[in-house]
Amino acid sequence: MKALVLAAGTGSRLRPVTHTGAKQLVPVANRPVLFYALEALAAARITEVGVVIGPRADDIKESVGDGSDFGLDVTYICQEEPLGLAHAVLVSQEFLGDDDFLMYLGDNFVGEGVAHFADEFRRQRPAAQILLTPVADPTSFGVAELDAEGRVVSLEEKPRTPRSDLAVMGVYLFTSAIHDGIREIKPSARGELEITHAIQWLIEEGRDVRSTVSTGYWRDTGNVADMLDVNRHVLDSLVTDHTAVGEVDEDSVLTGEVRVAPGARVVRSRIVGPVVIGSGSVVVGSRIGPHTSIAEDCEITGSDIESSIVLLGSTVRDVPAITASLIGRHTSVRSARAGGNHHLVLGDHTRITLAS
Ligand code: TTP
Repeated sequence: MKALVLAAGTGSRLRPVTHTGAKQLVPVANRPVLFYALEALAAARITEVGVVIGPRADDIKESVGDGSDFGLDVTYICQEEPLGLAHAVLVSQEFLGDDDFLMYLGDNFVGEGVAHFADEFRRQRPAAQILLTPVADPTSFGVAELDAEGRVVSLEEKPRTPRSDLAVMGVYLFTSAIHDGIREIKPSARGELEITHAIQWLIEEGRDVRSTVSTGYWRDTGNVADMLDVNRHVLDSLVTDHTAVGEVDEDSVLTGEVRVAPGARVVRSRIVGPVVIGSGSVVVGSRIGPHTSIAEDCEITGSDIESSIVLLGSTVRDVPAITASLIGRHTSVRSARAGGNHHLVLGDHTRITLAS
């Protein structure tokens, strides 16, 4: 069995971060979200992996390389335009051949991994198998309707009146039958070749389309709130390796699980774990955490940051209460003197909420 990891796309919901970087490389607990997907594939005993890349191709190639760090053999496949999940499969046909494959959306985080799901497929080998999870509001997901045996009888993309609460997660298993479906479908109203339509075609052709219902932790990190939630989830299972730590001075207090990477410095600060601080970063006179990831080469001074992700090379100075924030690379945030004006240089599609 091969795997196809989809890491092209526009990432419009994560702008402005995605203007300059791939959303699949946004770090969660200081590791790109894509890396968790690649590890899950290796754990499922899949080694031949195609990674579909778009405009941020070079960044992804540089981070993932040939895949050997993950025990994988990675082939890159270029999708010139993000014309849909089924289009990503279409452009990957040469790599996939007639093999079975697991398709994994590169911005998804699946807490329990995919090994059990892949094994179930290997045993039963239906034409397609989808991973489902119950959600509170199915109207913003692909929604599946099942028969008594768990076979999928219909799939609908973002239905107004959902037939169940079972949302399609970003992991699918296919035999080569899916290629027949993809050849038959037309672009949807939003101009994309939808994988749900290709699966629906298989159902209508009477092919065996099965499902596995998962109740484990799952998020699509395509928006900021879910990205921060995954960061919180991963940090909650952080176990600090106390053998390799950076510098922490005597005036600092660390509680809970706190990873200060070698080459990082914490001075006169209070760090409330779980927190990770990347190498080359300096935290002075600040309060960090809980549930916060500070990437490499950041400088945090006189500030208070909670439930947030700060990316590479950013500076935060004298800001008293930052929470639930995603701060992009090489960004500077500092407060004005009391009574001063706000002075802003913001990238396109930036969102900012100022406390009065
Ligand atoms: P989405 O999050 O559905 O789409 P997107 O990345 O364009 O984001 P937004 O809606 O915020 O603009 O994509 C899910 C995953 O699939 C993500 O890792 C990107 C990838 N993808 C492709 O590789 N090719 C495509 O044509 C599309 C639509 C998505």
